[in-house]
Amino acid sequence: MTSSPLDNLADQTAELLATIAELATIDQLREAEPQLTGKRSLLSTLQKTLGVLAPEDRKDAGARLQEARRVVESALDGRRAVLADEARADALAGDRLDLGDVVVANVVWPASVGHPSLVAITQRELEDVFVAMGFRVSEGPEVESDWYNFEALNIPPAHPARGMWDTFYVDLGEPETVVLRTHTSPTQIHLMEEAVANHSLPIHAVMPGRCYRRDTPDARHLATFHQIEGLVVDRGISFADLAGVIETFTRAYFGPDIESRLRPGYFPFTEPSAEFEVTCTICRGEGCRTCSQTGWIELGGCGVLDPAVLDAVGIDGDEWSGFAFGFGIDRCAQMRHQIADMRALIENDSRFLAEFS
Ligand code: PHE
Repeated sequence: MTSSPLDNLADQTAELLATIAELATIDQLREAEPQLTGKRSLLSTLQKTLGVLAPEDRKDAGARLQEARRVVESALDGRRAVLADEARADALAGDRLDLGDVVVANVVWPASVGHPSLVAITQRELEDVFVAMGFRVSEGPEVESDWYNFEALNIPPAHPARGMWDTFYVDLGEPETVVLRTHTSPTQIHLMEEAVANHSLPIHAVMPGRCYRRDTPDARHLATFHQIEGLVVDRGISFADLAGVIETFTRAYFGPDIESRLRPGYFPFTEPSAEFEVTCTICRGEGCRTCSQTGWIELGGCGVLDPAVLDAVGIDGDEWSGFAFGFGIDRCAQMRHQIADMRALIENDSRFLAEFS
């Protein structure tokens, strides 16, 4: 009997099937596929040798080869389906949520112990930075009268600047006289009043706390958010002192890679006023969805205290001057930890929370 190129076909096919069964991942399968069924595969090479056969043998050999190819291809498809299922199951297992206490057959498995939220951690870190710079920490109420939240800050009723703060009103007293504070600036007023009453000027203080605005949450805003206010009232204070504090803070908190800038801005209670921005850490300044393609993220506002504010609390503007700043604690957390969408801070996804434990 003359030898034919297909003499070993059964063994060769068995070998191909064994190779296929050992492919462990979709990537391996994709890599191996050309050698198994492609143009340079054994099956294709054999196909080309059929020409040497006598015409009466060729038809039979062609049919055997075709069958072998069908078997190999269907094994490959089967393996592909299995590996895809496995990959999907792995991805789902990775996404599994830890829902705390799990009760199985009346045994309670211990829940993980909680920890401070990222915002609380950030607030402590910011306080530490400012305490190291000589500021003390103070807090004020979240429910304020219109006077503290607006009027004493040189924002009289119906002043157009009120539009800068979409306000939640509390249903107390005369309509629209009690508010959920829209910023931490009213705490400045409390501190200055206290200092006047106690004859305890100068003031070097930071005031962290929760604030509320009727904002639609998005990648950079929450309706309930946190600010840290800074206030210095002393003799001979100028804008240069403010710029120095902001620069020192930025370096201390974000490190040397992040740039900050002050841009002219407007606030009724400071003059001159500035907006305080840092390089967007999500895109490193390239422009992205989080920073609305600007490359910068506004952290807050600042400026030299307007004489009208000193007047409102009875501080002599000839002797004392000062500056104030106020910026978002949530924004600081967002930029420090590169959180593309701030809403992650309040969604309580345990995978996100676990990252900051
Ligand atoms: N309170 C201002 C705001 O929330 C920020 C600010 C604070 C601006 C202090 C100047 C001085 O918009």
